[in-house]
Amino acid sequence: MHRAWFCQLVAGLLLVAAPAAMAADAPSPDIVKRGEYLARAGDCFSCHTNAGGATMAGGRQVETPYGTISSPNITPDPDTGIGKWSDDDFYKVMHQGLGRDGTYLYPVMPFDHYTLVTRDDAMAIKAFLFSLPPVHAPRPPSHLEFPFNVRTSLAAWRTLFFHEGTFKPDPARSDAQNRGAYLVEGLGHCGACHTPRNALSGSKSGEALGGGEITGQGWFAPNISSDVREGIGAWSQQDLVDYLKKGVAPGKAVVAGPMAEVVHTSLQYLSDDDLNAIAAYLKVSPAQSLFPDRHLVSAPGATDYLNNCAFCHQPDGKGISGAVPPLVGNGVVMAGGPQDVIRTILGGLQAHEQYGPMPGLGTALSSQQVADIANYVRTSWGNTAPTTATAAMADDLGKTTKTMLSGTGDCTKIEPDSLATAVAAPGVAALLHQVDAGNMQQKIAAILPMVETGAKPAQADLVNGLTAAYCPIVKANTTIKPEQQVEWLQRFATLVYSGVATATPGQD
Ligand code: HEC
Ligand code: HEC
Ligand code: HEC
Repeated sequence: MHRAWFCQLVAGLLLVAAPAAMAADAPSPDIVKRGEYLARAGDCFSCHTNAGGATMAGGRQVETPYGTISSPNITPDPDTGIGKWSDDDFYKVMHQGLGRDGTYLYPVMPFDHYTLVTRDDAMAIKAFLFSLPPVHAPRPPSHLEFPFNVRTSLAAWRTLFFHEGTFKPDPARSDAQNRGAYLVEGLGHCGACHTPRNALSGSKSGEALGGGEITGQGWFAPNISSDVREGIGAWSQQDLVDYLKKGVAPGKAVVAGPMAEVVHTSLQYLSDDDLNAIAAYLKVSPAQSLFPDRHLVSAPGATDYLNNCAFCHQPDGKGISGAVPPLVGNGVVMAGGPQDVIRTILGGLQAHEQYGPMPGLGTALSSQQVADIANYVRTSWGNTAPTTATAAMADDLGKTTKTMLSGTGDCTKIEPDSLATAVAAPGVAALLHQVDAGNMQQKIAAILPMVETGAKPAQADLVNGLTAAYCPIVKANTTIKPEQQVEWLQRFATLVYSGVATATPGQD
């Protein structure tokens, strides 16, 4: 590992020292052609080409569970594309998921799979990209929600779920099966959709190809492991090849949703040999069966923490610098009694200083779950408070913890007065009334400049004040259920925070 780094460094220095040699070394047409084929197998086209836009010029808004992220321009344009990138820069993206300047990339770019792609293949893909006409196309802004708009929030994700890899053929398998494994696990990144994800978008490696929900898009990518009942174990080799090539396996399945695009932009271009290799590998992939026993074995509260808190406070409890406080070694968390933690979980917290708002869970969890989470955070990552939280205590505190951000309390007052006046202006009020789940981000973007004028309010005041202004409006919206009213209000608060917390590192 250290040696690999060292070699890359030396190679990089040589390139800098001998630019002339680089130019003389133009890739052969054969390599460009192979690169195009591999780019098809990796489906780079689908994300990096916008509908109606130039090939690989980016600008497509790729959906994630946490908002949309725009894809970058990867044509050889020197200013807005990757024209100035060295071989090592490019390999670093594919192999390590690091941008040219070393920033963490969002795993929506499936580098957790591409890490298995050989350097040779990566260089062929680069040669193909550099053979395309350079297109000047700056990257449009992304619309990620807090805390996912903060690139440093990816650090813990990487530690837990990203493993730099090299493809190792399995000697027990045929050449075709190994070629299939390389394509499925690496370039083809089938598991990006077909492997279940946990609450943090990390693929569950023990459940490879066992089927996964494509969050936010309303599709489920089925189990394609060799399991006979749940997977493709009962499909013939030809069924699979037909499906992958044409989108139809007679009597078995027809592509309908996201898979239709995969076939259209990627798999239909693959050779029969490669499609047969993919099918051969799927037929011998470890059988996964998810439904009989899917419980996670863990400490009480661990799963609830992962599902409800870890987005923000991170799996390791360290929070996100400048946006979410750490729970490790935190006085409130480690206090003699668990009451404050329980109250915070139930009621949430308004934004303070640089910190964002924390939505309260109110009645969304049972009192037992709240107590378990409280005990869990008080005893994890080196925290050593006693596990004295009980369901009865949570029940009791619930009766007096009534807050706006959990939907159990009244709307708060808009402060300071200057903000209250700005918010009451007809234009702002009209926009607030138009807010719905689909347009929330756009409406907030329109409102912010209207209330940020004059004596510019402090960041936390803006977040709390606008939320307070939206609160009576959403509560009066009888077209949605009360649970949805709470959800919209909480989302509104975090989106306003995303909109104003411009000082957070790594924003696009
Ligand atoms: C599922 C969508 C998706 C697919 C498939 C995909 N990418 Fe990406 N790619 C992205 C997104 C989104 C980003 C930006 C990530 C970020 O900003 O953190 C990105 C970033 C990149 C970058 C970094 C560019 C820069 O300016 O920093 C390169 C290079 C790249 N991709 C190349 C490829 C190649 C080559 C392939 C095919 C082998 C590919 N991508 C397939 C979505 C995708
Ligand atoms: C962008 C997400 C995505 C990617 C990447 C993807 N799939 Fe799919 N796949 C789906 C979805 C969703 C379905 C369900 C039907 C549909 O969308 O048409 C599906 C269906 C299938 C089916 C049919 C299963 C059944 O029981 O009906 C097979 C086989 C399959 N995919 C194989 C693959 C292989 C092999 C790869 C990689 C080369 C791959 N998929 C990559 C999303 C994806
Ligand atoms: C949307 C992001 C988010 C989620 C989800 C979230 N928190 Fe928070 N949490 C925050 C922020 C931001 C603060 C700081 C709020 C402030 O003081 O302005 C905070 C504060 C806290 C505090 C108080 C810390 C202190 O120093 O005062 C505790 C305890 C806490 N959270 C526990 C939890 C637990 C347990 C969960 C899961 C049940 C959770 N949080 C879910 C963002 C979140």
